[in-house]
Amino acid sequence: MKINAIILAAGRGTRMKSNLPKVIHKILDKPMIMHVIDNLRQAEVNNIISVVGYQAELVKAVVKEESRFVLQNEQLGTGHAIMMCSEILKDKDGITIVICGDTPLISSSTIKELIDYHIRNDNHATILTGELEDTLSYGKIIRDNDNNVVKIVEFKDAKEEYQNIKEFNTGTYIFNNKLLFNLIDMLDNNNSQKEYYLTDIIEIMANQKYKVDGCILKDLKETIGINDRATLAYAQRVLSSRINRRLMDNGITIIDPRTTYIGPDVCIEIDTIIKPNTHIYGNTKIGEKCIIGPNVELNNSIVLNDTEITNAHIDDCTIKSHVKVGPYARLRQNCIIEDDVKIGNFVEMKKTIFGNRSKSAHLSYLGDAIIGEDVNIGCGTITVNYDGKRKHQTVIEDNVFIGCNANLIAPIKIESDAIIAAGTTITNDVPKESLAIGRVRQEIKEDFGNKFK
Ligand code: UD1
Ligand code: CA
Repeated sequence: MKINAIILAAGRGTRMKSNLPKVIHKILDKPMIMHVIDNLRQAEVNNIISVVGYQAELVKAVVKEESRFVLQNEQLGTGHAIMMCSEILKDKDGITIVICGDTPLISSSTIKELIDYHIRNDNHATILTGELEDTLSYGKIIRDNDNNVVKIVEFKDAKEEYQNIKEFNTGTYIFNNKLLFNLIDMLDNNNSQKEYYLTDIIEIMANQKYKVDGCILKDLKETIGINDRATLAYAQRVLSSRINRRLMDNGITIIDPRTTYIGPDVCIEIDTIIKPNTHIYGNTKIGEKCIIGPNVELNNSIVLNDTEITNAHIDDCTIKSHVKVGPYARLRQNCIIEDDVKIGNFVEMKKTIFGNRSKSAHLSYLGDAIIGEDVNIGCGTITVNYDGKRKHQTVIEDNVFIGCNANLIAPIKIESDAIIAAGTTITNDVPKESLAIGRVRQEIKEDFGNKFK
């Protein structure tokens, strides 16, 4: 069965009070619409079309090639948004899922179940519904005496007689694709909002005796539609507990789940311990028996086994096994930290490869550097990599000892087994096994202390 998906994402999201389109606001550091796209993909739905409108270019820049796009210049309603997809989809076989860009919590397993339900029951349209005492601003599902769905009524158009209905429309549907596009032009905008409602297609289909059905979603938290910032925060809370719970069930210790924020695409292996106030986002992978936190931010990085990271901020780096990082370390832009390394307090590294067993224990900046094995970087060492216009490389070979407070003015190469004396500013390459010392000789002025008083 060919499965298409349409994500409705053209609206502004007025209640967000934002200059940005709603669907690019982030949950666990990932734009809302990307959650929806990834949930669809995990349910094996790959032909995805996003309807964009308000600040379409911004949405496209976030989604990139993860979806095709259709432009809805004027937001004349959810039904009108579907009409915009007619050209691309009308002749296609199979079924089409319609989902809103602002319901990122509808999980891939729910999407899969909805597809199965639709196919199993030979439906022409299946609505994913929920049940609430107060259906808030959702559309209400109207069923006849035989429990068949006959229409959806928007809350703004709901008359007295529907007040007690508890079943509501989550805004996710599956349609027989050709049927959807055969009937879509029958929608009109004779309603309180003067919009073309997609929801009216249900009544049209039911009247023509097509099989329309509602599938009730048990976990109400999945149906959350994000319309304002408070719901955005609530949705993050819900998703975060879901992810933390899954990780704990899979053998990861999370000391304080309430202050631990882990994105949906993060992988962590067993017996790793995550300490409080830690944020792990993007495509981060962490191996076994690591200790991460407290106060760590880790983005798009790989950490192998038995590594400890505390009070650190790490972006786009690889940190191998038995490494200790922090407290107070900053690693960024593709650093590769090899095995058994120690990176201590107030050390910053950028685009640096740091070899096996090397150490930088305190207060250093290492940028654009290739550093070999068993190297000791003394406290206060700086790679002087920037001349005001361009960045230059520092190469430090195996077994080099760099004393405290050395400036290494790049481009520069320090060959293996060399020693750099403390306080030296290195401007020329240092040959192997040699000592480089460049500092003003100390003078002693006897008795000066007494005269000075
Ligand atoms: C819609 C449903 C309602 C359902 C609710 C679930 C309709 C008429 N109503 O109401 O039954 O309970 O979702 O959350 O469909 N959009 C466009 N183009 C437009 C209008 C909207 O792309 O012209 C997009 C929005 O960006 C949003 C989604 O469609 O992602 C839903 O639109 P919204 O205005 O939030 O509809 P609701 O009033 O929530
Ligand atoms: Ca909505």
